[in-house]
Amino acid sequence: MKCIKVPKKEAQKVKEMLMAKKLFALGYAPVAGRTYIYFPVNKEVKGYTLVEKEIIPVKKEELDFSSYDQIGDIVIVGEDVELVEAKKLLKRPNVKVVLRKKGIHHGEFRTQDLEFLAGEKRKETIYIEHGLRMKLDVEQCYFTPRLGTERMRIAELVQPGEKVLVLFSGVAPYPLVLAKYSQASLIFAVEKNPVAHQYALENCKKYMSVVLYNMDVKEFSYPEKFDRIIMPHPSAAQEFLPVALKHLKKNGVIHFYTFAADTEIPEKPVGLIRTKVPTFRVLSVIKCGQYAPKKYRVCVDFTV
Ligand SMILES: C[S@@+](CC[C@H](N)C(=O)[O-])C[C@H]1O[C@@H](n2cnc3c(N)ncnc32)[C@H](O)[C@@H]1O
Repeated sequence: MKCIKVPKKEAQKVKEMLMAKKLFALGYAPVAGRTYIYFPVNKEVKGYTLVEKEIIPVKKEELDFSSYDQIGDIVIVGEDVELVEAKKLLKRPNVKVVLRKKGIHHGEFRTQDLEFLAGEKRKETIYIEHGLRMKLDVEQCYFTPRLGTERMRIAELVQPGEKVLVLFSGVAPYPLVLAKYSQASLIFAVEKNPVAHQYALENCKKYMSVVLYNMDVKEFSYPEKFDRIIMPHPSAAQEFLPVALKHLKKNGVIHFYTFAADTEIPEKPVGLIRTKVPTFRVLSVIKCGQYAPKKYRVCVDFTV
């Protein structure tokens, strides 16, 4: 098996880099020597010596369920999953905690009640998306790893020098991806949940272009206008369209998220916008993830 030879003191940093760049050969566990650790990889990694090592594949136990979310080293399973199944998950590399859902996302902060099922007793973790570290408490903050591709799609649309406003920013996944992968000159972000805001401050501390506000979007007011406004609050974004419109430059773009059934796309999402915006032009309607059978999270990109 191809492995890279890494000094032990660099192990954590290199492991995160390999996972982020999808270079880690999944299904195999690293092997520790006295001063080096050998990471199984699927191709060469610049700066590290490639060696051949005998590595036994990690046997994955079959699970009785297929749908779960992994955020960092925490796995969140459905309400019907039992302890015996959770223990199988704990044998997987990089799973340290298994939590079980207690109901659906609820309340203004869209959080989810979670109970300990197996592993360490904590709900805080570090999630890595596109090489960016995001720390969060998975119960006290809304976060979904399922929007990683969508966040990168938006970052790729941002033109150099744009001023971007992210409403409902949570622990700041959108601001982070934009700060790292776009040439936005300024990224303002607004989040009401004080716990999510604290994590956002920590997550964004390296990024000088990001300015975070802990307040209700309805109270947000800024004298300058923005080129692009992102509204990732699918259960209620339409209520906040007047605030977005007030802050949008002429010909600016809004990314409006909502939920819709397969058969309702694009009429329902576009209709919701029409209730608040008299004249607009739709640029695209994107399905960005399924949340129930035949039901999707949808993003309408439109210009005013
Ligand atoms: C669906 S989550 C999206 C979070 C984040 N953008 C992400 O993708 O992980 C919606 C977020 O909006 C926040 N929120 C809800 N109502 C709000 C309001 N009136 N003002 C500011 N933030 C609000 C919630 O606390 C939550 O973090």
